[in-house]
Amino acid sequence: MINEADYKKLADVVYRRTGISLDLKRYHILKPKLEKIMDKNGYKNFRSFFHDYRFDKNKSLKQELLNTITINETYFFREKYQFESLVKDILYKIDAIRPEGETLRILCSPSSTGEEPYSIALSLLEEDGIINKRDIELVGIDIDSNVIEKAKNGLFSKRSIQYISKPTLDEYFEKKGMEYQIVDFLRDAVEFKVVNVMDKYAMQRLGKFDVIFSRNMLIYFDDESRKKVAMTFYEMLKPQGVVFLGHAESMSRIASVFKTAKSGDSIYYIKD
Ligand SMILES: C[S@@+](CC[C@H](N)C(=O)[O-])C[C@H]1O[C@@H](n2cnc3c(N)ncnc32)[C@H](O)[C@@H]1O
Repeated sequence: MINEADYKKLADVVYRRTGISLDLKRYHILKPKLEKIMDKNGYKNFRSFFHDYRFDKNKSLKQELLNTITINETYFFREKYQFESLVKDILYKIDAIRPEGETLRILCSPSSTGEEPYSIALSLLEEDGIINKRDIELVGIDIDSNVIEKAKNGLFSKRSIQYISKPTLDEYFEKKGMEYQIVDFLRDAVEFKVVNVMDKYAMQRLGKFDVIFSRNMLIYFDDESRKKVAMTFYEMLKPQGVVFLGHAESMSRIASVFKTAKSGDSIYYIKD
């Protein structure tokens, strides 16, 4: 029901709305999935499906489509050195320049199924020092509503928890069948929301942050969308706020407004 030309048309609208570029390499994998969505929602041809998507006639169709095209790979303590830099170094530097009593706010944009913000929460508990000095707020956002639901439930597979140490696993997780559920107080410690990073106003409604993690999403964007998102982050950061990107990503080609800095093995970007 969907041919290559249809796919390109759809990819064009998806790209403008989300920054995600659907290249032709994914056509053969996505074609049957997209056709299943069309079928399930009663669309007999691509034209009517595309019309409703483009003109936002069917909100659940739009969300279902987004949930199908996103790539959600994540796991606990991915690039662990970045969490170490955060809790042992960077948060102390930020603490030193913030007024007494101000809450430090950390955003994971995107959070996918939650392993990244929960890894930050676990790292904060292990470090112990900074959480005794300051209230810290953690927010995780993603465009995919399925992953946000999973993040809220806090149930993780064996593969996802494989880099968590045994004592941490025993202390903060409960085995439920084949899965592991993070304890309630940690689930309550992170606020999860469905937000599109390309929606500047929805992003700004989240408020100002001291630290933004944006790892392994911009690699799926093209340069123009990367620039837009980087400038949104810039506006959302408090003075001297910090951005962490994935190890294959770099701000230097995207936005010159950030100052590059190093902490241990981590490179990070400061709002100067
Ligand atoms: C590979 S995961 C990265 C998760 C985590 N940050 C990590 O590094 O392990 C990429 C996530 O980006 C999300 N994403 C893609 N485009 C987005 C957008 N426009 N707004 C918000 N999230 C988006 C996807 O839904 C997916 O869950």
